[in-house]
Amino acid sequence: MRMRMRAHLDERINECSDYILKSQEELYEYINGKNFHIEIGCGKGGFIVETAKQNPDICHIAVEHIPNVAILAAEKAKGENLENLRFVFKNVMDLSEDIKDGTVKRIYLNFSDPWRKNKQAKRRLTHPGFLKVYKRWLSEDGEIFLKTDNEKLFEFSLNSFCSEDFHLKNITFDLHNSSFEGNIMTEYEKKFYDEGKNIFRLEARK
Ligand SMILES: C[S@@+](CC[C@H](N)C(=O)[O-])C[C@H]1O[C@@H](n2cnc3c(N)ncnc32)[C@H](O)[C@@H]1O
Repeated sequence: MRMRMRAHLDERINECSDYILKSQEELYEYINGKNFHIEIGCGKGGFIVETAKQNPDICHIAVEHIPNVAILAAEKAKGENLENLRFVFKNVMDLSEDIKDGTVKRIYLNFSDPWRKNKQAKRRLTHPGFLKVYKRWLSEDGEIFLKTDNEKLFEFSLNSFCSEDFHLKNITFDLHNSSFEGNIMTEYEKKFYDEGKNIFRLEARK
């Protein structure tokens, strides 16, 4: 059964191959010297597909390391014939040296896994270890947009950004009751919103 599921996944990945960047060369060819926006941990891709649709002049890359989930996102992008969105099915840290310094204009971190235990803190996508890499990738005016439902992760992220000398702005503890306009909800956000949870959001610049 597992073998059949895997074969089926391989078939689906094959069908979306134009949307999946498999090597550094394919990544460079797609970016072609342009600045670009990247979502790390795109999940099923609802957010990045809608974002790419609304911003046709911007080149987007979405990274997701679980292929069973990432394929749903790639299929959505293919269904919309999006030319300005491509996927990398990898752990973002595997891209650390593949992305050229100063080339990323915006990083989206949406509802990243909180990794609740202290001993797991290094896996949080806003741990200083990750922020150092993002800082290298970001262009001079580059920015990170973060959303989460998890207060502890938000607090941890505020501290990490400050310890890495990022400048913070547009911080809200209740996005859906704030003045922020043009929010595009992610799959997790819709679920948490329906449960009546507050959504935390911030923007960080180097
Ligand atoms: C809680 S889900 C949120 C998905 C989506 N952003 C949303 O808001 O609906 C977090 C996602 O990030 C992915 N992820 C976590 N760490 C990652 C990493 N180091 N590299 C790539 N993807 C990662 C997970 O596989 C998961 O799909």
